[in-house]
Amino acid sequence: MVRGGRPLRGTVTISGAKNSAVALLPASILADGEVRLDNLPRLSDVAVYTEILEELGGKVTRIGDSMVIDPTRMRPVPMPNGKVKLLRASYYLMGAMLGRFGEAVIGIPGGCNFEPRPIDQHIKGFEALGATVTNEHGAIRLTAKKLRGAKIYLDVVSVGATINIMLAASRAEGLTIIENAAKEPEIIDVATLLNAMGARIKGAGTETIRIEGVDRLHGCRHSIIPDRIQAATYMIAAAATRGDVVVDNVIPKHLEAVTAKLQEMGVHVYEMDESIRVVGQPVYSAVDVKALVYPGFATDMQSPMTSLLTQAEGVSILTDYVFSNRFKHVPELVRMGAKIRVEGRSAIIEGSKLNSAKVRASDLRAGAALVVAALTVEEGVTEIAGVEYIDRGYDNLVDNLRKLGADVWREPGDI
Ligand code: EPZ
Repeated sequence: MVRGGRPLRGTVTISGAKNSAVALLPASILADGEVRLDNLPRLSDVAVYTEILEELGGKVTRIGDSMVIDPTRMRPVPMPNGKVKLLRASYYLMGAMLGRFGEAVIGIPGGCNFEPRPIDQHIKGFEALGATVTNEHGAIRLTAKKLRGAKIYLDVVSVGATINIMLAASRAEGLTIIENAAKEPEIIDVATLLNAMGARIKGAGTETIRIEGVDRLHGCRHSIIPDRIQAATYMIAAAATRGDVVVDNVIPKHLEAVTAKLQEMGVHVYEMDESIRVVGQPVYSAVDVKALVYPGFATDMQSPMTSLLTQAEGVSILTDYVFSNRFKHVPELVRMGAKIRVEGRSAIIEGSKLNSAKVRASDLRAGAALVVAALTVEEGVTEIAGVEYIDRGYDNLVDNLRKLGADVWREPGDI
């Protein structure tokens, strides 16, 4: 529930990145010793992943924002159903279990299904490494007597496929080269962890990644990078409410695309070493936004950005070149009085005041978009259903917003 109309003011500290965490947790499967992850976000996706690691026989100990995973007793337990269906990122179990055990049975991943999200590039990578991949009643069975390095050219730039191939290839025999690899900071984070475990990965963060396979990987300690999508959401919310917010514990370089776009609209943004201050202004200009692979403007930020663009004067065009139809937030924003129409992979947004309404989040970032929109509404209470999606990717959202002065709460029935 959100009673909007209050400018956000103060400091918010950003947790570790969800999209790193859900790859680093399964990466621990590859180690022969304890892996300690620091700066772990408190998210439902992380909780589900932890339970999956326990089902595989891992020993997991949580110490504050850290987690120690002892994977030594893990077994290649088949997981055709159950928790793997709750998460998109359960696909990383395929690469990690293939790398460690040479076998895996994983149900086709679930998660935020804002549009069909194929995994053909992951499969193509595993097959190139020598795995046999079959589809058995909705589960993927992967087996390999021996994984061998290969040259893999990705047809589409895919975060998931790039990470999954790195996971499997790190314990393969010989050299794997991924061409047309994704360059997102989370990929560098996974490579950093694997290298700390003894892997030999070079080029993560560029379009060519070289992985020299090793026989075994050992335990290590690793701190997860800050969540650039959560950070961007608070930056956008600060601008939308004409507030003044310091977003702390971030890597400003990871946020350059959003910083530049906010500045183009007329928002004042100041970059410090590990924080960014966003100072809202009374009037914003319409801008065009193109969601692209990193270092472009992230697709995950486009939904909250749609809400901010309703507060700009004139017509903005937001086009998503990563996912063709990630606009489930638009009909809900329209219920709130937004003037938006979707044409192909673009949303055409005309500036307008928003009103309170009962709306529903249909996926994680759509939920974030509705929260940003609701914070701008000057009268009444906006009721957002489907908040369980928001819990997948926003650590402590309600408390953080309350500390920034927002009037936000959860009704007892909200899960
Ligand atoms: C990751 O998803 C993120 N998820 C997504 O974040 C994010 O939106 C996306 O990358 C893009 O940045 C995680 O990291 C867990 P892709 P992923 O493979 O890896 C097509 C969020 O809200 N494609 O980079 O699944 C695909 O359909 C989530 O935090 C294929 O065609 O995305 C899409 O158009 C949602 N075949 C494009 O590539 C494949 O085999 C990029 O997808 C794989 C992908």
